[in-house]
Amino acid sequence: MKAFETNSWQNIKTYFETIKNNRILSNFDHPEHLKTFTFDFNGIYFDFSKHRWDEKMLNLFAGLADDIQTRQAIEAMFTGQLINKTEQRAVLHTALRQPDDQPIKVKGKNIIPEIRKAEEKIKSFTGKVISGQWKGVNGKAITDVVNIGIGGSDLGPKMVVKALSDYRNHLNIHFLSNIDPFELDRLLHKINLETTLFVIVSKSFSTQETLTNARKVQEIYIEQFGKNVIAKHFVTVSTQIDKAQDFGIAPENIFPMWDWVGGRYSLWSPAGIAIPLAIGYGNYQKLKAGAYAMDKHFRIEAFHQNLPAIAAFLTILYNNLYGFETEAYIPYADKLQYLPDFLQQLIMESNGKSTTLSNEPVAWQTGNIVWGNIGTNAQHSFFQLLHQGTKIVPVNFIAEINNKNTRFKENHKMLLANMIAQSEALMIGDANDIPYKHFEGNRPSTTILLDEITPESLGSLLAYYEHKTFTEAWLWQINAFDQFGVELGKRLANRILEDFNSMTYSHDKSTKALITRLREYKKSE
Ligand code: F6P
Repeated sequence: MKAFETNSWQNIKTYFETIKNNRILSNFDHPEHLKTFTFDFNGIYFDFSKHRWDEKMLNLFAGLADDIQTRQAIEAMFTGQLINKTEQRAVLHTALRQPDDQPIKVKGKNIIPEIRKAEEKIKSFTGKVISGQWKGVNGKAITDVVNIGIGGSDLGPKMVVKALSDYRNHLNIHFLSNIDPFELDRLLHKINLETTLFVIVSKSFSTQETLTNARKVQEIYIEQFGKNVIAKHFVTVSTQIDKAQDFGIAPENIFPMWDWVGGRYSLWSPAGIAIPLAIGYGNYQKLKAGAYAMDKHFRIEAFHQNLPAIAAFLTILYNNLYGFETEAYIPYADKLQYLPDFLQQLIMESNGKSTTLSNEPVAWQTGNIVWGNIGTNAQHSFFQLLHQGTKIVPVNFIAEINNKNTRFKENHKMLLANMIAQSEALMIGDANDIPYKHFEGNRPSTTILLDEITPESLGSLLAYYEHKTFTEAWLWQINAFDQFGVELGKRLANRILEDFNSMTYSHDKSTKALITRLREYKKSE
């Protein structure tokens, strides 16, 4: 049922008219406001109180979620139904964090045994690499690991490896994603080939950037050490076993992926292999345990106190009623530096859609624009617009209370003071008769405080964002799990690459002029 055609939505719209000009600050006159909108979950404090809504609006949204059978939609995902309809696939990143062996069937087949088998393989492999038992050419232990992958095969693992820096072992982990030769060159200057292991992560095993980079590195190895060393220095994660073998990867070095895990949801699968390599298998399991705790919460909790659902309601409120089209993510923790990048793919690749689940054009806005950077750096770049610009951007602040760094405790205190000050400033503003010194305030934000960034708390946080994305998609009635929008550009890039040699395809005048200019430049190289 379409959310925007229900009576619940009409009620939300009517009530919105009565509250839309209220000041956030006045909500706190209600003695229970803070209590209603703050939650403690698994060492994480969620504060949704500084928003342009109240308890009644929250309950109306919870009612809407009930009316459009969100509970059933969640169950359909968790139980392996083919909810990714355009690709006829199940969506089961949640199965990867299920701790027990309760069967989950995809097209009639229980997938849990395959997951356990893959886990055993990852455990044994990562153990060997970390302990130094896995030897490279010339019998030397591995010191560096390079993850070659892009999109979901890069952003999730890269973000987690940095976020869990406090749990890192001795291995240096590098991420090579872009096809820009600058990156490959720079990397090759940093590593010793004899002690480096390359992990090619590509669900499809057909991504141009990943395969080109992997091929180049392989050529360098073969040139330097001969063909036989490939098995010691290259492993891969893919659904495409045949393609990986054709590429020259030894069958025992291929880790599985499944079509029921989307790339941007795949850090929990063997595609996240850089994570157990960086922090050990035990910590990787704890990350999954944290995610599982959030899964359970999402699956059973009533919507007015269901954390991912509440976050999704806010996005719908701002996007579809207030008309605020973007949301900023500002971690006040350098360890979470890559979280905004990860969330951009998670949310924008999932929900940047304009076709409904019944294959009709949507008649409403979908897919908020996600952006951000770490604080306090962001304060000194784009916060001016957040405070005094004409656009209103709901902000998500994220920080950890206990920083393991005991040497510079004062710095951390300042960092947190800045974050809290920003959320307060955005809300209260500052009345001033001089127009350019006036802050209107009433600008919304969510604050998430992790007691500490641990594998468990990070796991819960990431699952929270995944389920927020799912709930938004359900409210918008779109499929969050395909990404056909990235295909056209890939196809055209291949044609243009051919056109650099001889112009075969027809193009508009601008594109043709660009190709011609590049052809001339390349000729003179
Ligand atoms: O082009 C988009 C995309 O398909 C993402 O969805 C995916 O995460 C990324 O490319 C990498 O894909 P693969 O793992 O198949 O190389």
